[in-house]
Amino acid sequence: MQVLIRANYDEMSKEAAGYVSSEMRKKVKFVLGLATGSTPLGLYKELIRMHKEEGLDFSNVTTFNLDEYYGLSPTHEQSYSYFMWENLFKHVNIKKENVHIPDGLAKDVDKFCEEYEHMIEEAGGIDLQVLGIGSDGHIAFNEPISSLGSRTRLKTLTEETIKDNARFFKDESEVPRYAITMGVGTVFEARKTVLLASGAKKAEVVAKAIEGSVTASITASALQLHRDTIVVLDEEAAGKLKRKEYYKYVDKMVKEFNK
Ligand code: GLP
Repeated sequence: MQVLIRANYDEMSKEAAGYVSSEMRKKVKFVLGLATGSTPLGLYKELIRMHKEEGLDFSNVTTFNLDEYYGLSPTHEQSYSYFMWENLFKHVNIKKENVHIPDGLAKDVDKFCEEYEHMIEEAGGIDLQVLGIGSDGHIAFNEPISSLGSRTRLKTLTEETIKDNARFFKDESEVPRYAITMGVGTVFEARKTVLLASGAKKAEVVAKAIEGSVTASITASALQLHRDTIVVLDEEAAGKLKRKEYYKYVDKMVKEFNK
């Protein structure tokens, strides 16, 4: 795991965009795993800028989103599908048929989840998965005690997550209680993962996920076992890391080594 600490949200987003775009340019057909929430918005903004100003090409990119609220149609303004089209897809040259987001209206949920896993496999697996972290330590919607081997399935959201996400809805009662989410095991199979976190509110859970024990109670901690994970934080989110200075030193040394 490499931990990169940047001065603020903008710098964090630019760092992540630099990484994602350079990986995208390495492969003709690239499979990109995407996340929602407010954290990756700056990354998406920067990818759009790179597409418009630097020719970053999405025509051969296939995407898989981590999760979707169960019960929301893709046209609902708070659905993750709507979010992705508004904040990334409609601004770049991605092919509609290459976009995959769990179907929040799936009738046979188990069947849908199995198919989603199959589609990822058919696409050749995820090359790079973008992740955020929930305040209860979840990645995607893998709430505490989700099996670290879990696959795409329906999850019941915690009260904490419902409260956190209520800010996007008119009222807390409107927040869906379930979501379809990739499992921790699904995320784990991505060849590379990049976890983003910003702001003081995330500092405690980030420290637990990176420096605490690997535990299903904080599903982001499973990334400690992943072969190729980069964590990009702003100073505030890095605020409670014990070895913060060491991570900064490593960052500097890696750059020096690669000169
Ligand atoms: C939701 C999403 C997660 C995301 C988390 C954090 O619960 N399912 O994928 O990481 O929110 O959101 P934010 O970035 O807004 O803090």
